Amino acid sequence: MKRIAALALCAGLLSLTAAAWAQGDAIAERKNGMKLMGGVTEAVKAAVDAGGPVTPLVPRIEQLLGEMRAIPSQFPPGSGTGDTRARDVIWSDHAGFLRAAENGAKAAEALLAAAQSGDVAATRTALGQVGGTCGACHRAYRGR
Ligand code: HEC
Repeated sequence: MKRIAALALCAGLLSLTAAAWAQGDAIAERKNGMKLMGGVTEAVKAAVDAGGPVTPLVPRIEQLLGEMRAIPSQFPPGSGTGDTRARDVIWSDHAGFLRAAENGAKAAEALLAAAQSGDVAATRTALGQVGGTCGACHRAYRGR
């Protein structure tokens, strides 16, 4: 009996550790994705400030779009503690959070289309809209 209890305890501890690991991974992964998006928006800003060209940035904007689309899966329930600024409202108002991510993805699609067209002014406008979706989500769902 004792041995079985000890085994069960071990298995329980192992799965707890695995869960903590998975959460740490999710936090690190989403932070990397966010940083990547920050780098891309800075690069696009530099390109439009220089008057173009913007088409060379298309591959990086595609990465940004990929990150925006990944946001919903990067905040699994339970990943709100640890080295993270994610607010609990992400999960208590999950529909709102998903909408904020969707707004980001739509704005990123428009930015991609603008950069693909080579139109610097349209790219500048679309970049402003992307930035608006970053800020809107951060204000509501990111703590200090
Ligand atoms: C749908 C919500 C949402 C959108 C859209 C969003 N973010 Fe975030 N962002 C967050 C949350 C939540 C955090 C906090 C993550 C954490 O600490 O676990 C964060 C964190 C960050 C961080 C800090 C990363 C770190 O190392 O701690 C940066 C930089 C960032 N976001 C940039 C951006 C940029 C740039 C955009 C737009 C191109 C953007 N984010 C769009 C929700 C969002």
